[in-house]
Amino acid sequence: MLAPAPAIDLPETCSARSIRTVAMPPNRRTAPSLNLTDREAIELFARVLKQAGYPGPGAQEVLGKELGVLHRKRDLPLYLRRLSGTPQLKTLVKLFAFQVHVDEKEARSAFAPLELERAADLGVVRIVSTEVVPLISISSFDRLLMAHDRTSTDVRESADPEHVLGISPPTLVLARLIPRQPVDAALDIGTGCGAQALMVAAFCKRVIATDLNRRALNFAAFNALLNDIRNVEFRFGSLFEPVDGESFDLIISNPPYVISPESSYLFRDGGKSADSFCSELIRAIPSRLNEGGFASTLCNWARYSKDEHWSGPVRRWVAGNGCDCWALHGHEHEPIAYAADWNRHRESQAYERALSEWTEYYQKLGICTINSGGVVLRRRQAAKNWFRMDELTERVNPLSSAILRVFQMENWLADISDEELLAQSFSVGEGHCITQTLKPSEGDYAIEQMQVHGNDELGFQASIDPHTFHLLRRCDGRRPLKDVLAEISKFAGIDSAICLQKGVVFVRELLAHGILAPCKLQPQTES
Ligand SMILES: C[S@@+](CC[C@H](N)C(=O)[O-])C[C@H]1O[C@@H](n2cnc3c(N)ncnc32)[C@H](O)[C@@H]1O
Repeated sequence: MLAPAPAIDLPETCSARSIRTVAMPPNRRTAPSLNLTDREAIELFARVLKQAGYPGPGAQEVLGKELGVLHRKRDLPLYLRRLSGTPQLKTLVKLFAFQVHVDEKEARSAFAPLELERAADLGVVRIVSTEVVPLISISSFDRLLMAHDRTSTDVRESADPEHVLGISPPTLVLARLIPRQPVDAALDIGTGCGAQALMVAAFCKRVIATDLNRRALNFAAFNALLNDIRNVEFRFGSLFEPVDGESFDLIISNPPYVISPESSYLFRDGGKSADSFCSELIRAIPSRLNEGGFASTLCNWARYSKDEHWSGPVRRWVAGNGCDCWALHGHEHEPIAYAADWNRHRESQAYERALSEWTEYYQKLGICTINSGGVVLRRRQAAKNWFRMDELTERVNPLSSAILRVFQMENWLADISDEELLAQSFSVGEGHCITQTLKPSEGDYAIEQMQVHGNDELGFQASIDPHTFHLLRRCDGRRPLKDVLAEISKFAGIDSAICLQKGVVFVRELLAHGILAPCKLQPQTES
């Protein structure tokens, strides 16, 4: 269990008093700031939301899905019908999931016992004559209540450079890449509304969450109070500036990674040339990581030659940095398609203008492809560091236990020589399976293809040849690998030296993906 949490430290930069008061531009739909001083009202607000079932299992049951990134605005009439039996939840969903104005009387009864005026003082709603206008959205994330700027329209339409994003698809991707094991100190760079920081606070003794956007820190601090989380400290500043001289067991960041000629939105544009924001972040991480500590980040990177492997830039960023690196590839983007994805929300002329500006920018820099994905690092300063690449599947399951297994296995593989490997005995990994595709052939069926499917959250699958199949069948945990390979060489008529040489390469691959397991290795699991 974690030690008792220290009182939440809300520095000057995040207190309600010190948040700069910005005159709301006419087109600004967001709340200027949330009041952090009336903690009793925040507690009451949290209780009202939770008791109504917002946005947890109660809402999920009637809505058929969690509120947040996956809900569809077009389905509001459907949701409202489903919610007809739960009037309080219905009102809260209208206000904080769909930004629908509600009648004052209806809001008053939904907020009870929290007085509507007190909720308005918190900054979550505004009372305009007889109507109540929501000023924030609230999503759910890992069973936490997360307040953020309104998402009534596409977030990217917001004219506000300090827009505070909610739970976006990349938020969920980064959450998958975080090893969830108890540690002392964690750092979340670019915390936004605080989603990752508050999630890891459950298993880290102390978390520091930073951002260059004071509005984001205000939301994040509000969310800490809303979820009664007391071991997160919020600091203002760029990258590692706010934590100068400190080091961590876990560093996480979903940075403003978009490669663009603009500096329009803090959440999107890092404001540096090409992929320099991400490269500087990755290059700076090792010196802030404690030995054995993990860092999980999302990144976009530019490639200047199509001949270069997708992992090339990441490899350069981490070369010789004293960390093991697991690069997970999400997508490869043609520059113009990437520009379109980030500008499609604009009205047609602005869209066209942005497409020209962004593609000219890429051409000027010589960028031919943009790649996106995740980078997981672990500091092992005095060790033989390794670099592994995988494709990141579209699933939503956390990869925490797979990360721990992969890092343990890659360390083992980096340290063991081929000779030592041949002397080891292996058994097949639990839970994987092999599928065969049969095709009619000469009055019978012949195996056309065999595929092995991994047992873990990574969704690994690969074609295997009959020799590998026979190798797997013979790995019974009793015989050393060299005996198994000698038997296969005899049985298949393959030269024994070639069989040993190739066998070792295949076995390393099968071990890396959990299809084979060394008999002498205790699996590492989440504690
Ligand atoms: C894509 S959002 C990520 C929000 C949140 N961590 C998540 O996972 O959903 C990027 C965040 O980085 C912040 N940011 C932008 N530039 C920064 C910088 N130089 N240093 C620290 N944070 C920065 C933005 O304000 C924004 O909150």
